[in-house]
Amino acid sequence: MSIAGKRVLLIISGGIAAYKSLDLIRRLRERGASVGCVLTRGGAQFVTPLSVSALAGEAVHDDLFALTDDSGMGHIQLSRQADLVVVAPASADLLAKMAAGLADDLASTLLLASDKPVLVAPAMNSQMWRHAATQANLATLRGRGVRQVGPAAGDLACGEVGEGRLAGVPAILSAIETILGAPQPLAGRRALVTSGPTFEPIDPVRYIGNRSSGKQGHAIAAALARLGAEVTLISGPVALADPAGVRTVRVETAREMLAAAKAALPADIAVCAAAVADWQVVNALPQKRKKEAGAPPPVIELAANPDILATLAAPGPLRPALVVGFAAETENLREHAAAKLARKGCDLIVANDVSPASGTFGGDHNSVVLVSATGAEPWPRLDKDEVAARLAAWIAAALTEGDKI
Ligand code: C5P
Repeated sequence: MSIAGKRVLLIISGGIAAYKSLDLIRRLRERGASVGCVLTRGGAQFVTPLSVSALAGEAVHDDLFALTDDSGMGHIQLSRQADLVVVAPASADLLAKMAAGLADDLASTLLLASDKPVLVAPAMNSQMWRHAATQANLATLRGRGVRQVGPAAGDLACGEVGEGRLAGVPAILSAIETILGAPQPLAGRRALVTSGPTFEPIDPVRYIGNRSSGKQGHAIAAALARLGAEVTLISGPVALADPAGVRTVRVETAREMLAAAKAALPADIAVCAAAVADWQVVNALPQKRKKEAGAPPPVIELAANPDILATLAAPGPLRPALVVGFAAETENLREHAAAKLARKGCDLIVANDVSPASGTFGGDHNSVVLVSATGAEPWPRLDKDEVAARLAAWIAAALTEGDKI
């Protein structure tokens, strides 16, 4: 996998392991990549700007305000010119800033301003590494699509032994090569993905909704983006962070979701993973419905919601080339999915078992069967991220080879 001609923006934050980033710069340049370097204040305590710039062959950046002097938008430029942002070593402090979205120095500002993939290589004392705050910060970052390499276990500079060592330079290089050399079969394609539940208000405080964490839909949006697609994610109310590299539109009701989906057209791919509420409340009130002692409970009048999947799959000039729906079933998975494929007019149904025993809702795993006009393809029980990666690859193959649909 070649990374020649690619540009890496390397952020070196504070830590004894910062000296290893000097070797990383050399190895990246040997492979034909150019390396822009940013030293945080902590990083500059461990390696000098002179050694970094000598190895990178260009000036090192370490001051937000000097950068904003020239074109006024230096930090935006710096992050946009790169193909990948690598933070090595990533200190506990910088990871916390990234998770919180702080932008109080050059490194944190350009991480916030970046629209490029980000790889972090954490390095710290093992107690700091194990701390719930650090682990929660990394979980948040991973949820946004940030990749991670390491840390490794072993002797630490503080004299302790444990996890927290910066990953080896070969491991960091290989992670960089995987990200930068990854094929982009969906480059130039547009995709829209619906995800999460919809909420249909009964009044300003109450609603009807479906159970859905949005994990699968969000993972699919991120996986399509990793293959190069330009993705619009239309998300109902979820507790998830917006994935990196994806345009996220947040909505609440099915009508809003449909309007946002139509606004995302034309698109080559539509994946409807949202658990859309089947009904909306016709007699919703603009004020909170009062509970009156002794009064009978209110009657809620319902009307059918628009079917977003069926609308997108209907023939017409704006129909995406590939429309994918989901079917959540508790029994007769394949038969129900095949019937749904025909009823909705889509090209593929990803049928998943949501019987209580399956643990699918809110869980991290999914057992799915792909049902298309050519038959059914059961997949093993997989992590939702793996289902997403496989589905994105399936979609890319179907679009490029045209042999699946
Ligand atoms: O009809 P049912 O809800 O079982 O169909 C599930 C599939 O249809 C999912 O892909 C879901 O996102 C989509 N759907 C939709 N709009 C609706 C109902 C379902 O897009 N109103």
